Amino acid sequence: MKLSLRHRLIFVHLLMLLVVTVAGGLIISYQLEDYYESRLFHQLKTHVDEVEYLLAVGAFGTNSLAASYNLLVDYAETVNARLTLIDSLGVVVFESGVKMDSLRFVENHGSRPEVEMAAREGFGGARRLSATVKERLFYAAKKVSPRHRSAGLLAGVEFVRLAVPLDEVEAVLRDLRWKIFGGGGMALLLIALVSYWASSRLTAPIQKLAHVAESVKKGDMEAHFAPESRDEIGELSELLNDMLAKLRDDVKQMRKLQTMRSQFLGNVSHELSTPIFAVQGYLETLLDDKVKDEKLQKSFIEKAYRQTKRLNNLLTDLIDISRIETGDMKMSMRYFEIHEWLTKQITELQATAQQNGITLELTPSNTPVNVLGDRERLAQVLTNLVENAIKYNVTEGRVEVGYKDFVEEIEIFVSDTGRGIPEEHLGRIFERFYRVDRERSRAVGGTGLGLAIVKHIVEAHESHVHVHSQVGKGSTFSFRLKKMGESPLAQIRSQALA
Ligand SMILES: Nc1ncnc2c1ncn2[C@@H]1O[C@H](COP(=O)(O)OP(=O)(O)OP(=O)(O)O)[C@@H](O)[C@H]1O
Ligand SMILES: [Mg+2]
Repeated sequence: MKLSLRHRLIFVHLLMLLVVTVAGGLIISYQLEDYYESRLFHQLKTHVDEVEYLLAVGAFGTNSLAASYNLLVDYAETVNARLTLIDSLGVVVFESGVKMDSLRFVENHGSRPEVEMAAREGFGGARRLSATVKERLFYAAKKVSPRHRSAGLLAGVEFVRLAVPLDEVEAVLRDLRWKIFGGGGMALLLIALVSYWASSRLTAPIQKLAHVAESVKKGDMEAHFAPESRDEIGELSELLNDMLAKLRDDVKQMRKLQTMRSQFLGNVSHELSTPIFAVQGYLETLLDDKVKDEKLQKSFIEKAYRQTKRLNNLLTDLIDISRIETGDMKMSMRYFEIHEWLTKQITELQATAQQNGITLELTPSNTPVNVLGDRERLAQVLTNLVENAIKYNVTEGRVEVGYKDFVEEIEIFVSDTGRGIPEEHLGRIFERFYRVDRERSRAVGGTGLGLAIVKHIVEAHESHVHVHSQVGKGSTFSFRLKKMGESPLAQIRSQALA
């Protein structure tokens, strides 16, 4: 059976209480019984002493035996006890429970335990069944001391014995026990009620937490754990709220990533299908022998070829992007001389510039500077930037590449006299597949992946791409690279890397 926390708490409380009440009750009632009996015994002893004294002073008379007998009976009734007087041989000479004329039928009391004990020790006590009156009694007996031995009628009395019925004693004790256990029971009931109330107060906030957790489990991310109290449970609900908030953000992020991924996939298939359909179209036209003119045939083939080139570029870009995103694109950092490197890059790009009727220039610089970076990846960056500057330029436009020297870094810039980028697009041109002018971009063979790759590579160099653009005037893209430091350590490092 599954017990709720609350029921378990109550159960444990009650169990503990029960143990305490029962054990406490038992201990108390035993103690009280002990106390009561010792008091009773003490009382009997006092009365026994009293009888001894009264006998000695002759208070019970000296002339008539019958009168003495009656006085003794009266005394026994007054102290509410049975009185027995026994002589040295054990013969009962008086017994308050027996008529005087029947006394001779009473057996010898010499071997009664309390009498034997009194004979031995001066004082004796016992609790047992009386053979004389057939009742359970509590006895106290005393051996009369020689100086109290009275003369006259009661001269032969050796032992004074008093007894009270045990039933009476037990009735009192029973009553006492009832009171103790009754009180305990009441306390148990009361505490059970308090415990029920307290545990429900304690478990109610936990139940509320469980309730909210249940709705979170069902997918309600907006659920909120109300901090009910300022104790551990309150702390727990605050913690859970923090956790939920984090979870909400994570889920939001995950959903955003998911939409981005599906958008990316859509874009990819769209970008791939366009050139594929184009190639298919050109080839079909040629296969159908519809174009007879050889010149036209050749131009179709060229067009198809350009489309396959575009496909190839797109695929390389896609592979780069995915390698960057999976973290597979590792940078291999080396120190290299920037001017020399730029010269080489620009020379390679001159052909493209010329084809587009654009002047491409490298701003001369006479101070050689060593910088840190991955030359191959940086070539990719520069090619992308310069190609953009060429593609989105005006007829007979100019592209200028160069670098500025700063204390710890150099800044490489690619500047063009092109159309510029409208302000509202500036924030988005680094997104994958983002193109300001879709038609123009496609016409010049762009897919919108170039700047996304540029951004990633530059960021891997702990830098970022800066754009300054004015519509109608041109754009400048720039980024920084770390220079080789002058410190001995940096030199050792550069030698190690070189
Ligand atoms: N120098 C520039 N002048 C004007 N517009 C630019 C310039 N560089 C980039 N752009 C704009 O930013 C967009 C994104 O550039 P990006 O290099 O990412 O893509 P793309 O050149 O179209 O394609 P890809 O580089 O993948 O072949 C371009 O489509 C263009 O609209
Ligand atoms: Mg580009």
